[in-house]
Amino acid sequence: MELSQAINTLFSVRKFLDVPVEWDKIGKILDAGRHAPSSGNVQNWRFVIVRNPELREQLAVAALKQHWIANAPIIIVICAELDKITHYYGERGEKVYSIQNTSLAVQNMMLTAHALGLGSSFVSAFDENEVIRLLGIPGNARPYVIMPIGYSDDQPNPNLIHYELENMTYFEGYSTSKRVSSMDNTSWSWRYGDKARDAIVRAAGKAQSKIEKSAGEKSFQDFIAKIRKAFSRK
Ligand SMILES: Cc1cc2nc3c(=O)[nH]c(=O)nc-3n(C[C@H](O)[C@H](O)[C@H](O)COP(=O)(O)O)c2cc1C
Repeated sequence: MELSQAINTLFSVRKFLDVPVEWDKIGKILDAGRHAPSSGNVQNWRFVIVRNPELREQLAVAALKQHWIANAPIIIVICAELDKITHYYGERGEKVYSIQNTSLAVQNMMLTAHALGLGSSFVSAFDENEVIRLLGIPGNARPYVIMPIGYSDDQPNPNLIHYELENMTYFEGYSTSKRVSSMDNTSWSWRYGDKARDAIVRAAGKAQSKIEKSAGEKSFQDFIAKIRKAFSRK
């Protein structure tokens, strides 16, 4: 599976087939997590693999009764060890880098699971103290993500939308006046590529000259010229 395809088709799987997951696949998923970038290369993620059905159910209850979690044949709980990162980077290390490091590892793992034909989910709504108790997590570590993994019996939610880049992207500063507009050249380039934009500009140019020849009506020519200008703005 190509990377962009894996990214674009990844979704949260919350229904699993009662089929065991091969160990070599679990190994590949863990290995993908291990290769994530981390602040100062501390690699402070820790992975707890849970297969025991009783413990899976207890984790599901700790996850605010999200019972579907227990149906995944494997759960990996991604934790962070905090002493080294706090020693190096203080409060920011503990409160920011630590979460960033583990999240990057989880994204690697979810994409790898997906590419291997498996489904997974990123679950963070849980009673932290209860998860610490269930897994015997020591005082210098925190659990951040419960990741159920298995063969999917689920479908992506057809009503789920991803907002357009124009809704979330600014140029040179964070303000609505600097937001990328949908008629902007950059926006056209990242959506359709420069070649597509150039083809549209050429086509608009040809259309304009044809219309000028046949119609010759001033206001319409101005209108077409405006469109052409909007597309060819650098
Ligand atoms: C930080 C974080 C916490 C999440 N916690 C939960 C959770 O507790 N339970 C759950 O079912 N999904 C959880 N999700 C999954 C999101 O609901 C899901 O990614 C989002 O709705 C987009 O849907 P999709 O993954 O199917 O594209 C969480 C995702 C993130 C990034």
